[in-house]
Amino acid sequence: MRVLDRGDQLRKELDAARAAGRTVGLVPTMGALHEGHASLIRRSASECDVTAVTVFVNPLQFGAGEDLSTYPRDLDADVDVAGAAGAGVVFAPSVHEMYPDGVPAVTVHVAGEDVLEGAARPGHFDGVATVVAKLFNLAGPCRAYFGEKDWQQLRVVRRLVADLSFPVEVVACPTVRERDGLALSSRNVRLSPAERNAATVLYRALTTYPARSMAEVVAEEPLATLDYAEVLPDRLVIAARIGGVRLIDNLEVS
Ligand code: PAF
Repeated sequence: MRVLDRGDQLRKELDAARAAGRTVGLVPTMGALHEGHASLIRRSASECDVTAVTVFVNPLQFGAGEDLSTYPRDLDADVDVAGAAGAGVVFAPSVHEMYPDGVPAVTVHVAGEDVLEGAARPGHFDGVATVVAKLFNLAGPCRAYFGEKDWQQLRVVRRLVADLSFPVEVVACPTVRERDGLALSSRNVRLSPAERNAATVLYRALTTYPARSMAEVVAEEPLATLDYAEVLPDRLVIAARIGGVRLIDNLEVS
């Protein structure tokens, strides 16, 4: 396992792999790796010769008052999870390595995404699109693996790749859930035991629709505050705050 913290090292490593005829899979993450991330890494390792996992808590995608400073960080544990799942490279740059001048002068804005998460978290998807574009440029042409749990993020990344012609194939991977339906998320570790139980309300609301409205189901859970629950042509999407932790989930409309 190679653990790198400089962009030029990552580029050199992955260029050398491609020059030797090996395919490269990229799994962008913010660390705090769990079984959901492991499933992306395993998928990449099964489809590509080399899998690189990026671990970077990207300040650009956090708004004022969000959980940037408390976001869980444990690089040693992340390296273990990534290695066990089949990664050959972990790229864990500092904020200065990624943004040497502080906030970059050039950022990427994907139009039309100021709804749902984009409305609740202004600027969030500009931060995501900017860092993903940068990671794609550092890693070079490859497949990139993203979880369907962040469904709108996936839509943003697909639009980024299509409109800016990144030579990257975006691979969407199914949401991994606990036995009671709770979607795995790095933020779940911040739930108290009571909040952890209450958090199943998101999946309950998604799976109870259309017999009952999602809002009605969430309203019955005292520890939950609904942010939005919407029925899109192909997806049910929901966001709610459970105590101090904001969680999102979605389900394909069959
Ligand atoms: O989904 C995430 O963990 C992040 O939004 C991503 C894609 C790694 C960009 O920072």
